[in-house]
Amino acid sequence: MPRLPTPKLPAALQGPPPRPGEENGNVAPADAAKEAGITVVDWVDERTSLSGAARWLMFRKIPKGTNWYYTLGSATLFAFLSQAVTGVFLAMYYRPDAGGGAYESIRHITDQVFLGQFVRGMHLWGASVMVVLVFLHMARTFLFGAYKYPRELNWVIGVVLLILTLVMALTGYLLPFDQRAYWATVVANNITATGPLIGPYLGDFLRAGPEFGATTLSRFYSIHMLVVPGLIAALIGAHLYLVTKLGTTAPPWQKVETRPELNEAEV
Ligand code: HEM
Repeated sequence: MPRLPTPKLPAALQGPPPRPGEENGNVAPADAAKEAGITVVDWVDERTSLSGAARWLMFRKIPKGTNWYYTLGSATLFAFLSQAVTGVFLAMYYRPDAGGGAYESIRHITDQVFLGQFVRGMHLWGASVMVVLVFLHMARTFLFGAYKYPRELNWVIGVVLLILTLVMALTGYLLPFDQRAYWATVVANNITATGPLIGPYLGDFLRAGPEFGATTLSRFYSIHMLVVPGLIAALIGAHLYLVTKLGTTAPPWQKVETRPELNEAEV
């Protein structure tokens, strides 16, 4: 059978003319790589529609008057991520052994592991930075009235995040298992046990036995590196979902400016 000629596309649909070397359908290697990248992203997106979610999350309208104080939440998030990354490296060398092994492993990290002292320092100082940032972020949301309707649930999630951040700081303090860590945790645990209603149960749970010792250290370690980071990550997800869904609150002075009934200059 004679082959039918390929129909010629109208000029508007033909695309740009081939560049030198591309006349026979060849594509320059750099262009091929670029095209492959686009295709992989498209391939994943076609099956997941993730680009829609990413656009929903990242391209949002923000109120007039948004300022640097609104970066405190993201700064807290960054501090958490930094703690997670440095914590994973520390966990590669740390041993929760109450018979001297824990302290030895920390000494090994500080004195012998490449960049160990630096990573340990980042984790240690990062813990304080995160606590300070979470308080500053909470103060910002409180002073800007961002806890009011419809953001009460996000405030409550924030309170839980604050408590969990403090639990991280408390449980992490015991891990070097030196004299200071030991006695500071004994005192903190005794204070916890004097709390109302659940205080005594919480004290017993954290001590994990009649005396402070090996089981206490294992319990603190599992809470510090598994339970609480998991909870914090999940709650940050819910927190950011609500921030994206509800948007952020305009600064209080901005509200007055944009509501004509409250602004005499515009009446
Ligand atoms: C791990 C801790 C936390 C992280 C990573 C975090 C992260 C964020 C981020 C990124 C935002 C959006 C930007 C901004 O307003 O700064 C935000 C908003 C908000 N956060 Fe947090 N947050 C944390 C803890 C808290 C705490 C402790 C509270 C209060 C008790 C809180 C209450 C709120 C509220 C009410 C908003 C909405 C702000 C608005 O509408 O203007 N958050 N958070």
